[in-house]
This record gives sequence, structure tokens and C-alpha cells, in this order.
Amino acid sequence: MVKFSLESIRNVVNLNQSKKTPEKLILEVTESNQATNPSAHHAVAQLHANATYVVAGGLGDLGQKICYLLASRGAKYIVILSRRSLGTTERQELQDKLRLVSAEINVYSIACDISRRPVVQEAVSSLENMRLPPVKGVIQSATVLRVSLSRISKTSHKF
Ligand SMILES: NC(=O)c1ccc[n+]([C@@H]2O[C@H](COP(=O)([O-])OP(=O)(O)OC[C@H]3O[C@@H](n4cnc5c(N)ncnc54)[C@H](OP(=O)(O)O)[C@@H]3O)[C@@H](O)[C@H]2O)c1
Repeated sequence: MVKFSLESIRNVVNLNQSKKTPEKLILEVTESNQATNPSAHHAVAQLHANATYVVAGGLGDLGQKICYLLASRGAKYIVILSRRSLGTTERQELQDKLRLVSAEINVYSIACDISRRPVVQEAVSSLENMRLPPVKGVIQSATVLRVSLSRISKTSHKF
């Protein structure tokens, strides 16, 4: 039986791999040992400034959160796809809000129903005509949720 302090864990691993290990290896943990969280040292991913990020459903709740996230990670060009078109004032207001996060953000919008292929193809053409930097990310956050209570009401008398 051999005791090691926690700091020498690498030696223990090496020893173990060399097959010259004694029967028992004990790692001692004392109050002076400090645990490090490897994930705390991960660099936060930064997005390309010279790129365009497309957010389908970007006017919705999740879409807006994604736009803020993109802005905070260095995106400079965001194109929002939504079935309703965004007026100039509304687009400007949205851009102003995002500029509180990133001063250089540019927000564009294209009216597009992403469930209709020809409409999406038109949107792609519009995007090309806008002469923005290349698209490096497309985020899908568009959803329509339909909830029906009919089944519940039919059975509710049983409860
Ligand atoms: N909100 C959150 O924090 C959150 C978190 C986790 C997961 N989610 C999930 O994410 C999804 C979206 O939630 P949400 O809260 O963001 O909903 P929401 O506020 O209703 O937004 C949905 C957006 O999708 C757009 N949209 C719907 N159909 C479209 C289509 N065919 N083409 C283009 N755009 C379309 C809508 O705009 P138009 O009507 O103008 O097209 C709307 O702005 C849901 O599945 C939800 O469960 C949400």
C-alpha cells in the first residue's frame, strides 16, 4: 500500500500505466487540495464578425433571445425570417435594442414562411441581393403551437 497526495495524481496514473503498481494506491485528500473546474477555463465561443447569421422566427420569444446571444458573441449581421414583414421603424427599434449589446450589429428582416419552399427560395434570392457577408449560421426558432382542449372537455365529465 502506497499513499500519495492528491497533487501527485499524475504520478499515480503513470505508475498505474507502467504496471509496476503496488497492490493498493491511496490518494489522500487534505484541506489544502484545491479542485479546479476545467469547464471554467473554456473560452467563450466567438462568432465571425464578417458573417451573416439567419434566425428563422427571430421575432418570437426564443428568436429574440437568440438574436441577443448572437450579438453578445460578436455577430454583426443578423437576418430575421418571419411570416410578417417588419416595418422600418420596428426593425430600427429592434436594431437599437441589440446595439445596447453590440454597437455594430446590423439587423435585417425578410418576410418568409419557412414552411413554403418557393417562398424560402425567394428569401434566399433576396438575401443574395442584399450583398451581406456570407451566411455562416442558420438558427431555426420558428414555431406555431396549436393546443386543443376538445379531447379534455369530452372526457372531463368522467372526473
Ligand atoms: N421562448 C423560450 O424561451 C423557449 C425556450 C426553449 C424552447 N422554446 C421552443 O421554441 C419554439 C419557439 O418558441 P417561442 O416562445 O419563441 O414562440 P413564439 O414567441 O410564438 O415565436 C415563434 C415565431 O415563429 C415565427 N413563425 C412561426 N411560423 C413561421 C413560419 N412558418 N415561417 C417563419 N416564421 C414563423 C413567428 O412569427 P410570424 O408569426 O411572424 O411568422 C414567431 O415570431 C417553441 O417550440 C418553444 O417550445 C422556447
